[in-house]
Amino acid sequence: MVRKAALCFFVLVLAGPAGAPAQADTGRLPVREVVGGKLAGNGRFPWAVRLSMGCGGALTAPRVVLTAGHCVGPTGPNDRITVTAGATDLRSRSAVAVKSVEVYRSPDFVTETAGDDWAVVRLERELALPTLPITAEDVDQGTFTVMGWGQTREAAVQQERRLHYAEVPTIPDAECAAAYRKAGVELVQDESICAGRHGVDTCQGDSGGPMVGRDKTGRWVQVGIVSWGLGCARDGFFGVYTQIAKFRAEILEATRRLS
Ligand code: ARG
Repeated sequence: MVRKAALCFFVLVLAGPAGAPAQADTGRLPVREVVGGKLAGNGRFPWAVRLSMGCGGALTAPRVVLTAGHCVGPTGPNDRITVTAGATDLRSRSAVAVKSVEVYRSPDFVTETAGDDWAVVRLERELALPTLPITAEDVDQGTFTVMGWGQTREAAVQQERRLHYAEVPTIPDAECAAAYRKAGVELVQDESICAGRHGVDTCQGDSGGPMVGRDKTGRWVQVGIVSWGLGCARDGFFGVYTQIAKFRAEILEATRRLS
């Protein structure tokens, strides 16, 4: 979420080494093309949606969007979110806008860096679009695809009109946790997936969007949710994603109830 993201951005930046923008050891200017900068063609990720507070999400059912807990308010009736779906270009004529009617946020959610960063949103009506299943397996390693309409650079001031995506390898939890510990943040290792590579990451405004992989039959399945990071694409720090497999039963149950 953009407003909240600015907060997570500032909190984490201030906690970072001297609050200075990270710079590669080589002395080169840091590369900060988030999401590695590929544009998604129309129809490429048909279940990916944009939420009006400045987050991403994915349709887990025709009437239900899975997003990050920090993108939404508490559980209960909620008609303040507009979901734009059906187009990678938010201004294209195939884009449809629907309102939310209800939110269910993980009862254990406190703040994005504390784990449990997931929520589901019920829409006012069903959308005739493909849905994205959540992973049936306990995956937390591999190379996955991440996407969003968020900033393409850490210092960017604007969100994107078109969906960007990138492939990112996962990083061992211990390595990711060690980096964040030095920045003063304790990673909730068993509920998170860390991923990223030099110059490639998600960024502010991508929160809530899906991290996806292919299952054995080649279908896309969701394995993570964009959650947080220290700045964007900084060397030595990685994007942190909610590890969906940990919350599989709860997310399926919430999706069923809100369908
Ligand atoms: N908390 C951010 C948001 O609300 C997501 C940040 C992801 N950051 C990262 N470096 N991977 O948009």
